[in-house]
Amino acid sequence: MSIIFNEQDKSFTLTNGRIQYVMQLFLEGYLGHIYFGKALKSFNIKRAFYQTEREGAPNPAKHADARIFSLDVLPQEYSVYGSGDFRIPALEATLANGTTTLDLRYHSHEIFSGKKDLANLPSSYANNDDATTLEITMREVAGDLEVVLSYTIFNDVDVITRHARIKNLGQDPIALRKAASLTLDFPTDEMDRISLWGKHAFERNIERTPLNHGIEIAASSRGATSHQHQNFLALCDRTTTEFTGDVWGCSLVWSGNFEAATEVNSFGNTRMVMGINGFDFKWMLNHDETFTTPEAVLVFSTDGLNGMSQNYHRFVQDHIVRGVHKNAVRPVLVNSWEAAYMNFTEDSIVKFAKDAVKLGAELIVLDDGWFGVRDKDNCSLGDWTILNQKKLPNGIKGLCDRIHDLGAKFGLWVEPEMVSPDSELFRAHPDWAIGVPNHERYQQRCQYVLDLSRQDVRDYIVESICQVLASADIDYVKWDMNRNLTDIGSFAYGKEQQQEIATRFVFGVYDIMKRITEAFPNMLFESCAGGGRRFDMGILCYMPQTWTSDNTDEVCRQKIQYGTSLIFPPITMGCHVSACPNHQVGRSTPMLSRFICAMSGSFGYEMDLGKLPEAEQAEVAQHIALYKELRNTIQFGNFYRLMSPFEGTQNETAWQFVSKDGNEVILMYFRNLCQPQGNIRKLRLVGLDENATYEVTHHMYNQSLACNALDYLCNYKLEGDTFSGDELMHFGVNMDKVDRDFAAYLISFKRK
Ligand code: GLA
Repeated sequence: MSIIFNEQDKSFTLTNGRIQYVMQLFLEGYLGHIYFGKALKSFNIKRAFYQTEREGAPNPAKHADARIFSLDVLPQEYSVYGSGDFRIPALEATLANGTTTLDLRYHSHEIFSGKKDLANLPSSYANNDDATTLEITMREVAGDLEVVLSYTIFNDVDVITRHARIKNLGQDPIALRKAASLTLDFPTDEMDRISLWGKHAFERNIERTPLNHGIEIAASSRGATSHQHQNFLALCDRTTTEFTGDVWGCSLVWSGNFEAATEVNSFGNTRMVMGINGFDFKWMLNHDETFTTPEAVLVFSTDGLNGMSQNYHRFVQDHIVRGVHKNAVRPVLVNSWEAAYMNFTEDSIVKFAKDAVKLGAELIVLDDGWFGVRDKDNCSLGDWTILNQKKLPNGIKGLCDRIHDLGAKFGLWVEPEMVSPDSELFRAHPDWAIGVPNHERYQQRCQYVLDLSRQDVRDYIVESICQVLASADIDYVKWDMNRNLTDIGSFAYGKEQQQEIATRFVFGVYDIMKRITEAFPNMLFESCAGGGRRFDMGILCYMPQTWTSDNTDEVCRQKIQYGTSLIFPPITMGCHVSACPNHQVGRSTPMLSRFICAMSGSFGYEMDLGKLPEAEQAEVAQHIALYKELRNTIQFGNFYRLMSPFEGTQNETAWQFVSKDGNEVILMYFRNLCQPQGNIRKLRLVGLDENATYEVTHHMYNQSLACNALDYLCNYKLEGDTFSGDELMHFGVNMDKVDRDFAAYLISFKRK
């Protein structure tokens, strides 16, 4: 791993032996982007950027005669507005004199081992042997603005992280209008663009389209990452597949409004700009103040989308998730939400827990409805320390102790960022909610958002939540956030800073998450935001897992989990089996199929297991035992997508896990609607040892409803059979013939 500055050709090269990133200084210090891709054995940089005259492309005055150099065509590292580049800028500012033209030039650079933390923001971490950092300082030609571009290359993953720090060197305030995390220019327009779109209960659907001329933007202005779009983009060659071809991924360590834009210009070049959304953004930068952008995580892989995802997965597990849960096995949890909603008592939860523990559950989570007078979702948010005597006469401690006595851990739901209009907190502090003078606030789920830009509000949240968490020996917290931000304004800030509030809110979220998670270092935190509204690397820096979606339907979950796996490893995904008919879509699917889907992440149940018929309870006990047996591979192994639910007839999905040491392999396959005389699906495994032999340890699938006695394969179990690695990878393995809808299959193998 190295970062080298070549004095002669003024180039910077970052490489870890597998990937390489090259930049070069042009003329009076313009910083051009030259290459990001596979590590090259040697590189003749002389004509890497081919300069030619382009009609309509402005030239710097000093070089106006030659007419061949223009920022409008130079691939760049951090694009700005006003100095000849008409493509998307990363940075826009109104300077002290009211003008908006920016012109950045190289000033100095520094290379050091390891990486630094980012002010106010979560970021990835690495020790000095794992990463090297380059920081290039650029100055605006008029001298008032400095931009430090920071690049860290990692040794163990094919990742480069980037962020920018923008400082006001002048005496008078500067208004930042946009401060993206990066510009990344590509010398081609022949690429596909992959993004993730969604909605509540149907998050992170994969969309792959060819790049078009002009600008395409995926964005959020909802105050959080959003159900609708993910702060992620991948660009890949048109021929790139799941396992082959070049792909460039970019994702943000950020949980607020964002913009992920691509622009294809008229000369066959593509620009990607990602960062905080410039829409309705302003940040006043006073003398000597610095604004730090969120970190962007760039991945390059020559091994297709799976190669990209595996780098992201390793990166999230080794450089984002931290603390005692980084390498800790996740417990099987059972959550009360869909089992009881807000209708429970201490005794009913203890009964619910007893029934679940009997079947092997390890963690019992009491969801919403335990505080204030909350019997409906229209009140009491904020009143965390007002106990609901009716439901919990002995307090959280009384319930928690009884759950512990059953031999299980205990977890609790909170939603600290919110306040109900009908709450003691709001009645006492109406100015603590985000809002705008002379406007009645809009509500969503009958709630307002607390103004986390205020220190007094943040202190109240930290104190009240810590008081609750310290009141009993709580093991787990589900931290929810159930609405978008509207009427964004703060009663504590002046008019120049009102457009900072959406950004300050996110800084405030990070501040309270940091203080609360640091106060309880052993507690397992799972973030949630109406399901998957805020599944991002920013939150994962504090909370190692996220409730993937409020939708627990097995068929929908195949897509949701498959799409989420583009960036996030299965261990970070909360995945639960729930009751049928499903509460979100009304579908009924077999228990085994729901299990195989949910066991592909941090596994649990979202239902009252005691209400199941005995035979199904026995099935659940068997499933929990199996998950415990296989969870090391699922939680810490490598994940491979084999069949996409977004392609073809969208009727089948397959994925596979291989343990870190390669000794255990788990194959999962789902076929939703049964076809008359349907094809037998043969799946070819990946990531195995061709020379090894694998023995089947578990083979599970739904029983056929009308099994033909003459069909000798029907209900034939493979347990104990052996296959060679090359047979499994090159010939494959046939799935069983099952005559029913919503079939699912699991085959696990152990290397002999
Ligand atoms: C959100 C969450 C659910 C549940 C409810 C409780 O919708 O996503 O899982 O916790 O809130 O109100």
